[in-house]
Amino acid sequence: MAMALTDDPTYQDLERWYKANAGSLNMRAMFESDQDRFSSFSTTLETDDGQILLDYSKNLITQDVMAMLLTMAKSRRVEEARDKMFSGEKINFTEGRAVLHIALRNRSNTPIKVDGKDVMPEVNRVLDKMKAFCHKVRSGEWKGFSGKSITDVVNIGIGGSDLGPLMVTEALKPYSAGGPNVWFVSNIDGTHMAKTLAQLNAETTLFIIASKTFTTQETITNAESARDWFLQTANDKSAVAKHFVALSTNAAKVRDFGIDTENMFEFWDWVGGRYSLWSAIGLSIALHVGFENFEQLLTGAHWMDNHFRSAPLEKNAPVLLALLGVWYINFFQAETHAMLPYDQYMHRFAAYFQQGDMESNGKYITKDGRRVNYHTGPIVWGEPGTNGQHAFYQLIHQVIWDINSYDQWGVELGKQLAKKIEPELKDNSVVTSHDSSTNGLINFLKKNFA
Ligand code: F6P
Repeated sequence: MAMALTDDPTYQDLERWYKANAGSLNMRAMFESDQDRFSSFSTTLETDDGQILLDYSKNLITQDVMAMLLTMAKSRRVEEARDKMFSGEKINFTEGRAVLHIALRNRSNTPIKVDGKDVMPEVNRVLDKMKAFCHKVRSGEWKGFSGKSITDVVNIGIGGSDLGPLMVTEALKPYSAGGPNVWFVSNIDGTHMAKTLAQLNAETTLFIIASKTFTTQETITNAESARDWFLQTANDKSAVAKHFVALSTNAAKVRDFGIDTENMFEFWDWVGGRYSLWSAIGLSIALHVGFENFEQLLTGAHWMDNHFRSAPLEKNAPVLLALLGVWYINFFQAETHAMLPYDQYMHRFAAYFQQGDMESNGKYITKDGRRVNYHTGPIVWGEPGTNGQHAFYQLIHQVIWDINSYDQWGVELGKQLAKKIEPELKDNSVVTSHDSSTNGLINFLKKNFA
């Protein structure tokens, strides 16, 4: 078993430094005493489209701290783990899966193998299918059941199947000319769906059911409501094929729902839900801004993947930011705050990032220095009711004792429990099947909100 983080001598060096010096760290004084602080703690990435500046000088760090953090990263074998991910090794060890969202945006097309088979031909096949579909919808060639073109696209999903495309379509709004409007429905509270549908015309609306598993309760419930609403106007089940498409890894469930698998855009078990906007889950993005712009998005991400893969750690932007995260979370017990240039179009970024970080890296820090998915304190999280609620389920039902950032089972537990609880809410009987706190909460709800 790997050495615990807090037993690692490189971590203990940081801890000693923190105890001796952290109290006297003063940002103003650090800038005054070192005229070169900005150049020491910033790095510029040269891309084909211009420069990206990462300025991390306004953090509570010194040269010694950064040197120790980088030494710790080496000791924790960050480079080795990174290389294993890029080579398709099954680093999601709990589920025995590769972690290859990087393959979705591998514009170089160099082979990436899982179990000896190159995944790139499949990735490209789905991209081609998305491209053809986008062109048909955006050009007006794709007609709804009454012969009209599509004006509005509703993405029904939750978690990574909602927040990623929602964030990106918002960020890329200036590129959306000529594309359909996009709407996102995630909340199982029917008001979200009802308010959205009230603004739409069934004849010109396309529904995208986005769910990796195609079993997520919020999404399936919302998809059924959308189908019922649509059929009230269309009055013909065969019309569903022209107005419903699925993004999923689960062809059987897609078929059960009544969507022709011809209208399914596939992805694979090596794409984590929270990293999936680069996969077919990005279809709403491609429809909104056009497939060519979606490809540009993939190209940008590929550029960053190459940077992450090849830059030395001390100039590696994702590594530097991650190390600052460890520094603040483990020692100052505080979350890091990214400073983004304020841009209204990026206003969904925080929610998107928060979900991915929390599902991957945990929500609570333990005495031995790890973030885990267990929390006993008050919870403040995301948008109440939608993805926040989704995350809340996970939060209260996971106790994971070692972090596998790519694990899905843990985050699926909340969904299973929600399924168990639902029938228990249907009558007045006292519930005793859970721990005493959950029983108490359910019984209180039944008594007071019957
Ligand atoms: O939150 C758990 C999770 O599985 C996420 O990883 C995922 O993005 C979300 O639920 C939705 O899952 P699915 O795409 O399978 O509906």
